[in-house]
Amino acid sequence: MKNKKVISWAPGRINIIGEHIDYNDGYVMPAAIDRGTRFEIMANGTDSEVELHAQNIDDRVRFKIGEAHGLPTWAKYLYGVLMELIGYGAEIGGFSATFSGDVPIGSGLSSSASLECSFARGLIELWDLQLDDWQLIKACQMAEHRYVGIKCGIMDQFASVMGRAGQVLRLDCRDLSYEYLPCDLGEYRIVLLNSHVSHELATSAYNDRRAQCESALEKIKSKHKGIQSYRDVDQHLLNTVSVDLTEFEMARARHVVSETNRVLRASEALSAGDIAMLGAFMYRSHESLSQDYEVSCPELDTLVELTRSDERILGSRMMGGGFGGCTINLVQELYVDSVIDRMTREYHTAHGIELTSYQLKIGDGAQIISSTTYADTCL
Ligand code: GLA
Repeated sequence: MKNKKVISWAPGRINIIGEHIDYNDGYVMPAAIDRGTRFEIMANGTDSEVELHAQNIDDRVRFKIGEAHGLPTWAKYLYGVLMELIGYGAEIGGFSATFSGDVPIGSGLSSSASLECSFARGLIELWDLQLDDWQLIKACQMAEHRYVGIKCGIMDQFASVMGRAGQVLRLDCRDLSYEYLPCDLGEYRIVLLNSHVSHELATSAYNDRRAQCESALEKIKSKHKGIQSYRDVDQHLLNTVSVDLTEFEMARARHVVSETNRVLRASEALSAGDIAMLGAFMYRSHESLSQDYEVSCPELDTLVELTRSDERILGSRMMGGGFGGCTINLVQELYVDSVIDRMTREYHTAHGIELTSYQLKIGDGAQIISSTTYADTCL
């Protein structure tokens, strides 16, 4: 009998623009980053005994496949991925996995997608599963829906798997077609500023937003035959149904329609090298997320406001699910350090919180670092 040891890795992601519209058939513009989660996985010779070790927090769990109860949250993500792969008919026996990562948790950089996708990539390699990238991506997304309770869209897992160094992805979440755009920002750099705020109710607020978008769309569909998705809705049509929608539904739908439009125009601006225009769309995206979608928070709003009068910054907005985490900023390269210094001082004065900044590179997606087969006697 042979045994195999697999080392896999998958990144977190940034998102240039297109927030909270992946689950509304919109467009998104994410990219993979050069931070991620690394797994070492080995079969252990049993039928169904699994051992998982989270090195960063030195926590371990043991369970039998199909029989896990009371897992800590981090292990629910992994158990979900495992069960979703098995749901495809994958034959997976017992194994031990150890992992560690450097994506800051709760920062809107999708440490969760990085965890799921690295694990899934590793299991697929270890057990020689015949599954393609889209099956991997969807298994990881559904793990969050079914085992963690977050009805997330597909953006994070997609970016974590499909990312390419130096390229931004533009994904059409309606038909899942996508293209790579060179991330050429001229003399500007992407700087992330971590508010260090996290909201306890972020999961339920996320699911509430999704439900509000769905109920608004159902009402729109009942008034206008032929509407299939938000992509068939424009601002004019939205105005004609304003009496049928609640105030919240109207505001959420307005964000979806305007943000989808902004992503298209922002990707044109990026391709044309018009970074000032790209930045202007980022500011408008933030306003919409803050006012219409209501997923910002005072600290994120402060971080964006503090950039407005600084001509060395072309764009700023909250990034990811919201209610805390990072803002993404376009900062003139020459002045990155002095911008960070000023923002750190002023953010501390406003909220008494120490800011952290990241200047990340756009990297490649999920990968197998090594896959080694041993004869049993060597183990
Ligand atoms: C989270 C979700 C994504 C997406 C963003 C908001 O990161 O996992 O699917 O909805 O929030 O754009």
